[in-house]
Amino acid sequence: MTAFAGKRIVLGVSGGIAAYKAVEVCRRLMDGGAHVIPVLTRGATRFVGRTTFDALASEPVRMSLFDEDDPIPHTTLGQTADCVLVAPATARVIGAYAAGISSDLLTATLIATRAPVVICPAMHTEMWEHPAVIDNIAKLAERGVHIVGPESGRLAGGDEGAGRLCSPADIAAAVGRVLDSGGLRADMAGLSVVVTAGGTREPIDPVRYIGNRSSGKQGYAFAEEAADRGADVTIVTTVDRPGPASATVVKVDTAEEMAAATVKAAKQADVVIMAAAVADFRPIDPVGVKLKKRDGVPAIELETTPDILATLGAAKPHGQTLVGFAAETCDVAGNAAAKLRGKGADYIVANDVTAENAGFAYDTNEVLVLASDGRVHPVGLRSKRQVAQAVLDLVVGDRHSQAQSATQVADGTSRADNQENQ
Ligand code: CTP
Repeated sequence: MTAFAGKRIVLGVSGGIAAYKAVEVCRRLMDGGAHVIPVLTRGATRFVGRTTFDALASEPVRMSLFDEDDPIPHTTLGQTADCVLVAPATARVIGAYAAGISSDLLTATLIATRAPVVICPAMHTEMWEHPAVIDNIAKLAERGVHIVGPESGRLAGGDEGAGRLCSPADIAAAVGRVLDSGGLRADMAGLSVVVTAGGTREPIDPVRYIGNRSSGKQGYAFAEEAADRGADVTIVTTVDRPGPASATVVKVDTAEEMAAATVKAAKQADVVIMAAAVADFRPIDPVGVKLKKRDGVPAIELETTPDILATLGAAKPHGQTLVGFAAETCDVAGNAAAKLRGKGADYIVANDVTAENAGFAYDTNEVLVLASDGRVHPVGLRSKRQVAQAVLDLVVGDRHSQAQSATQVADGTSRADNQENQ
């Protein structure tokens, strides 16, 4: 039986180009056995037809606050829902909900419900990064609303950036977790998590650098998953993209800067996830003025950068979990095992960056997780968010077992002490 079986889900759809993806979300919820009631805003119907949802969902589309059969449709919907999901949620709907303004059936239902609410924002990057939207999202997150996404990627009009609606699979999975637990799992509440993301840039001169192809997507997926599970997240990133609403974001460029910020943040961390692609080499002596073509091909002498993961592994505080990555192009398991041993990590998440649909810039990944006690967990091709979920499930599960065995040892000791004292 799925988490959706028999559950009443109000599917709110507001007016953005991503509204077409709500059709797929609806189908997934229906396939899982949910009773789906679509509530569309007027703007949504500009992007997707009512008939589509009428045909797919459990009930016909609702749009009006004034229904002939039900004098108070918003309270009926709000009170009887097991979950209210808004996908996509525009800046207007998010703003109205945060301010408690009920100007249409969807916002009135949001305010009238005590059921868990999942908001999946989708908008252009400029809007997503506007201080008003940032404040509204933070306000909703503080009130316990579950914010899922957005992701980075292609937006309407061919633009690229943060603001894309999460995939229907990720949205359905998040709703499933909400329904499973009466809220997204809070199994990382009280944990401090540091995640590094992106690829470092090592300057050659003021305009050129040595870089790599990391997009930061996998690191952000870890930060988002950990934040949704209640962790206190710090993301040390080279990418110009806001992290989860509740996270502390530290922007860096070079390996040196990432090392300083990560080592500092890791001192108090329970879990450190080194998802960043750190440059291994940097120019010894970056020049202060732009190198000119007329001066000929420059000889650029390189030196190695600090290995952040190895530094953290060598000074790991008791009880800290250290997760490293391995980007490989051949002998993935062998190279990853060597990194696990050599860098003092508890886990290495290894991937073949040449594999189809996995690695740099893709939204999906396929990894092999190696644990320091010899266990190997293959995680098949899935969204980067689902990869993060699988790895964090393992980390949280192991931390729980370790805490339990520590308690049993302590209990055993105290029992032995007591027996001696009798
Ligand atoms: N890493 C790091 N500092 C570096 C280089 C890598 O902390 N200067 C971390 C990465 O964040 C990752 C792990 O080490 O978690 C492995 O990175 P990877 O690039 O796969 O391997 P390298 O150690 O750089 O070795 P190689 O490039 O030779 O495979």
